Amino acid sequence: METIKLTTKGQKVTEDVIVQRILELKEKRKAIILAHNYQIPIIQDIADFVGDSLGLSQKASSTDAKIIVFCGVHFMAETASILCPDKKVLIPDMNAGCSLASTINVEQLREWKRKHPNAVVVSYINTTADVKAESDYCCTSSNAVKVINSIPEDKEILFVPDMFLGAYVATKTNRKIHLWPGECHVHAGIRPDDIVSVLEKYEDTEFLIHPECGCVTSCMYYLAEKDLPEDRAHILSTEGMIRRAKSSNLRKFIVATEIGILHRLKKENPDKEFYPLKPDAICQYMKMINLEKLLYSLENLVYEVKVPEPLASRARLPIERMLQIV
Ligand code: 13P
Ligand code: SF4
Repeated sequence: METIKLTTKGQKVTEDVIVQRILELKEKRKAIILAHNYQIPIIQDIADFVGDSLGLSQKASSTDAKIIVFCGVHFMAETASILCPDKKVLIPDMNAGCSLASTINVEQLREWKRKHPNAVVVSYINTTADVKAESDYCCTSSNAVKVINSIPEDKEILFVPDMFLGAYVATKTNRKIHLWPGECHVHAGIRPDDIVSVLEKYEDTEFLIHPECGCVTSCMYYLAEKDLPEDRAHILSTEGMIRRAKSSNLRKFIVATEIGILHRLKKENPDKEFYPLKPDAICQYMKMINLEKLLYSLENLVYEVKVPEPLASRARLPIERMLQIV
């Protein structure tokens, strides 16, 4: 049975009608729809490009489209605005925030920098534009190790804001890094016990683990102790998970991240099986975007995310440094 939806004009129509209208308007407006891997399935299916934070930034900076509709969270739309100052960047719901980005503000970062005047600041892409503007480098989960390795070894590093990703990167690079005590409420909820409880049960299964997870430090310990077999446990960004699932010879995967990623994993690997480690790992911010809001956004060219100058130019530097490294 077809789902009946309410359009922005109050009419009852089927989902197909809304999809058709979105596609027509996208064409008319010369817009591109970018969606993060955690978006709801129908938004991923209608998007021109679906990817992780790095892929989305790269796509935003290379597109010819005049309008970017960002189906993701606010800091992602801000990043697109910073990279493409001449384009109109829209987000279908302004309330789509990020609990991790909210764990540090610019005053807190300035204060921390004052205590470490010679330190290099590396900020995860999940930060606001003004935090980026106070940073030397940006990174995403797929390039954080490379970014840290590009910094001279004698430099003191402040890493903001995700402590789990920061601890993972510190171990991988063997660097002493000061960590801001921030976390994403969705990933922090994926605890070591969640991994331990499934470890022994599934022998022919691969584990795909996001480095923002609360279990990541323990997973690295289990890997070092060989309690978690190296060939069956991989710590990856969301796009890294997509690539790994495709190339692996195994057929079953347990996925430790926000469950929106399962849609693409299943769609692109119909002969393989994917199970969430934690079925309630759901980011309510990512799920704020839906078809009706996307249609409204394209109809009314709202809600614009525009990072003003000179802030945009200052925030662009650490992002561009990152894009040159990867
Ligand atoms: P990636 O898709 O870059 O791995 O990031 C995950 C995330 O939590 C984005 O908010
Ligand atoms: Fe932010 Fe976590 Fe949601 Fe990603 S999953 S957008 S880090 S709150």
